[in-house]
Order: sequence, then C-alpha cells, then structure tokens
Amino acid sequence: MSDIRHFLDLDALDGGILRGILDQAYALKRAMKAGDRPPLLRGKLLAMVFEKPSTRTRVSFDVAMRQLGGEPIMLNRVDSQLGRGETVADTSLVLSRYVDAIMIRTTAHSKLIDLADNASVPVINGLTDRTHPCQLMADVMTFEEHRGPIEGRVIAWLGDGNNMATSWIHAAVRFKFTLRLGCPKRLKPPKSVLDWANAKGGDIILTDTSEDAARDADCVVTDTWVSMGDTDGEIQRKLLTPYQVNDQIMSLAKPDAVFMHCLPVYRGDEVTASVIDGPQSIVWDEVENRMHAQKGILTWCLGASVEL
Ligand code: CP
Ligand code: NVA
Repeated sequence: MSDIRHFLDLDALDGGILRGILDQAYALKRAMKAGDRPPLLRGKLLAMVFEKPSTRTRVSFDVAMRQLGGEPIMLNRVDSQLGRGETVADTSLVLSRYVDAIMIRTTAHSKLIDLADNASVPVINGLTDRTHPCQLMADVMTFEEHRGPIEGRVIAWLGDGNNMATSWIHAAVRFKFTLRLGCPKRLKPPKSVLDWANAKGGDIILTDTSEDAARDADCVVTDTWVSMGDTDGEIQRKLLTPYQVNDQIMSLAKPDAVFMHCLPVYRGDEVTASVIDGPQSIVWDEVENRMHAQKGILTWCLGASVEL
C-alpha cells in the first residue's frame, strides 16, 4: 500500500490522525492570533484543480499555503487541458512532476480516486459529489471552540442526504458523536455509507422528521437544497421544504445549541435569515476555520508540523 498521505475521506483515516490534524489546526490558529506564522511549507507548491465553482475552499487553501510559506497554483477545468479531454490520470501524472500536493474539487468521486491512484504526491479532496471532508474538519473545530469536545454530543443534520451529510456520518464515527439525520425518504444518504457507520458502531439515527432530529440537539446543521451538479432541483426543493431550519426548529434543540452551515446559504430556503443571522449561528467562525483546518490538513499531508 502507498505511504503517500492522501486526505481523501474521513472514513479512510483513523480518528487519531484526524485528531492530530485538528490539534495542528488549533495550534497554528493560536500562533497566528499571537502574530506568529511558522513557514512550515516554505518552498512547497499546491496545485488546486477546480471542476466546480468555489469561494471558501479556493481562497482558504490559497491563503493557508501562502501563510505557511508555500504557494498555490490554480487550474480550472475550462482553461486547462482537462476541459479538452485530457484524462484525470494523465493530469495526475503531469502535476505530480511539478508540485508537492494536489487539491481537487470535482464531480464524480471516482475522478478523485483516479487522481490519487496515479499521483506520486498527496491528493486532497476539496469536494466531490459524494463527500466534503475538509469542510468537516472545520466544522468539528468550530463546534469544539464554541461548545467543547464533540465526543458524545448530539448533532442534528436537516435536509438532503448529500455529500455533506455523508461526511458528517464519517465524522460522527471518527469523532464519536451522535448524528441524527432528518431527511426525506427519497433523499436519504447512501445505504453503503449508513452500513459502514453501523458496522463501525456509529451512533447514527435516521428519521424523516425535522422535529425528531432537532429535539435536544447540541447543534443543528443544514446545507443547500440543490447541490452543484444536481439535476432534479425543483423536485428536491419540494421534498426539502418541510426540513427548513427556522426558529421553531431551533427552539426544540438545547437552549445553547449552535447552528452551522457550510455555505453558500440560500436564506428563506434551507434556513431562515433569523437563524443564520441570529445569535445561535456560528457560521462566520466556521468560514474562518476552513483556513485553519486546511493548514492542519496540508501540514499533515506534507509531513510538517509544529511542536504541540
Ligand atoms: N463550503 C464550501 O466548500 O464553500 P465553497 O463552495 O465556496 O468552496
Ligand atoms: N452540498 C453542496 C456543498 C457546497 C459547499 C454542494 O455540493 O454544492
């Protein structure tokens, strides 16, 4: 088996490694707030390949690389040869000769795997149709900064059983918290993911009512009703309307429950403005932590770290 440190998914890495990545992220965040930016990745290059739009992932990786003394290189599908049919495998072989790591945001998860299988440098999953693991590292970090250790806590996911939901399931197993998913029957997370979590002893509860998911939760999370690449937008919007996070849903959760959302948000759809812009929302800290979490991921992938 390859000893390259890919960051492909939370189910592929053990809990100790993931906790170590978060410890680095916390340490680098503290250092930065104290005015110290250790150049752990001086001279390193990260290729960032985007086959879908991005604001946070793109900018947080870019800034994280620069603050660690390295540099990012951007490739969009349309202005690279990927857009003209060069294969993912060949792209991976090419980039591996130039850069120290590759981050990719793509459509089919199989493309991520193809890229990693052909790479001789670490590959990072910046979102696929199946998962979004970097986001979960920032989400766990943000919850813990506000509410303490996530182990044993109850997180309620309301909405589509999409790529974010799958990564939340992976995270629940790896970080040992309870995840209640309130999803329409037609938009449940993939059975294979639920089976994996059950086999690992995960505390995952699937319900089709928002109320049952949200009751006494420590955190309520949701995501857009229509993800990038979804083709049944109108059907999904209809199915997901009863899963909106609003003041009534938040009132069922614990009084000190927090609200999270990976963003971008569509106010009035998956969440009301009163919730996302209200006192329980921690989404802007969640945004900031994307950058700190990326530093933990990048330094782990490239074998650089600060003394803890
Ligand atoms: N949350 C997130 O991944 O945002 P972007 O799509 O803007 O990168
Ligand atoms: N589920 C969303 C997440 C965006 C960060 C999507 O895939 O579009």
